[in-house]
Amino acid sequence: MKVLITGGAGFIGSACAKALMNRGDTPILLDNFNDYYDPQLKRDRVAQFLGGYKGQFILREGDIRDAAFTERVFEEDQPEKVIHLAAMAGVRNSLKDPLLYADVNVLGTTNLLNLSVKHGVKNFVYASSSSIYGKNTPPFSETDSVDTPISPYAATKKATELMAHTFSHIYQLPTTGLRFFTVYGPWGRPDMALFNFTKNIFAGQEIEVYNFGNMSRNFTYVDDIVSGTLTVLDADLPCDVMNIGGDREETLLTFIETIETCVGKAAKKKLMPMQPGDVVSTVANIDKLRGLGWQPTTRIDVGIRNFVEWYRGYYKV
Ligand SMILES: NC(=O)c1ccc[n+]([C@@H]2O[C@H](COP(=O)([O-])OP(=O)(O)OC[C@H]3O[C@@H](n4cnc5c(N)ncnc54)[C@H](O)[C@@H]3O)[C@@H](O)[C@H]2O)c1
Repeated sequence: MKVLITGGAGFIGSACAKALMNRGDTPILLDNFNDYYDPQLKRDRVAQFLGGYKGQFILREGDIRDAAFTERVFEEDQPEKVIHLAAMAGVRNSLKDPLLYADVNVLGTTNLLNLSVKHGVKNFVYASSSSIYGKNTPPFSETDSVDTPISPYAATKKATELMAHTFSHIYQLPTTGLRFFTVYGPWGRPDMALFNFTKNIFAGQEIEVYNFGNMSRNFTYVDDIVSGTLTVLDADLPCDVMNIGGDREETLLTFIETIETCVGKAAKKKLMPMQPGDVVSTVANIDKLRGLGWQPTTRIDVGIRNFVEWYRGYYKV
């Protein structure tokens, strides 16, 4: 099966591509290699992480907002299904450039939904985010109201869900949105806490701990995200949204202690107030996705160790 993965050189996209190839599918990786974080890491995911799979995937470099380019991809590569992950990610950065977030995440997604209808795509699975729950009281469930996002990023993800619902309703395009809860693991994103903390602890520099450490997350290991995404890709649901998160609420301080153990060095913690747009606790109710037979299996001590091992090797520290 040919599967278009937008954001295919990204953290989650490249991991999904590998899993698809391991089961004999052909991913089409579409990515614009933008510089939101070091594009070399994206190039290396393709060249190194997916290096052993030459000839088993197609790489298309371009922008999901470019109508002519994306039309060409659908015409020439004829994907049967789509995993749409390309987006401007990151809550804090969205406060600095809300127009870019709206443009890429809303316009770009609408373009892909439109092309998916036109080219008879059988299932459109896309990334939403736990951040759309805003200031709701955890644990977060898909039946909760998510009408009050508190960052431009979260608002674009909500808009993505609305647009997907619209296309499912009018054109019967099967769509499922996955509300990802703090994903971590090897080849992860430099703008996220695990990467930053690990880097600074190795370098003996301070780490900024927001809300004075009083935060908790359902951290989700990337392999669990991949297995959940493929579960939904195979399920071809008519129109749905689902939480995908780890099954344990971990405090930020436990998370930091685990990194310290793996790095073998104590962190210099700089306790900071809450950041605008940020959320104190994101805890997922994952019963719905469990209902499809999925479950998360990786605990943070194993997941963080895998990340730190990768980090040591990749950055030669
Ligand atoms: N990682 C997480 O914890 C997390 C949590 C919630 C939601 N998500 C969502 O999951 C998806 C994947 O996240 P990720 O962590 O792999 O991020 P990532 O930034 O590593 O991957 C996104 C990829 O999309 C590409 N991209 C961005 N804009 C593009 C455009 N206009 N055209 C083509 N390609 C473009 C980027 O170059 C990047 O390689 C995103 O939609 C993100 O919002 C991630």
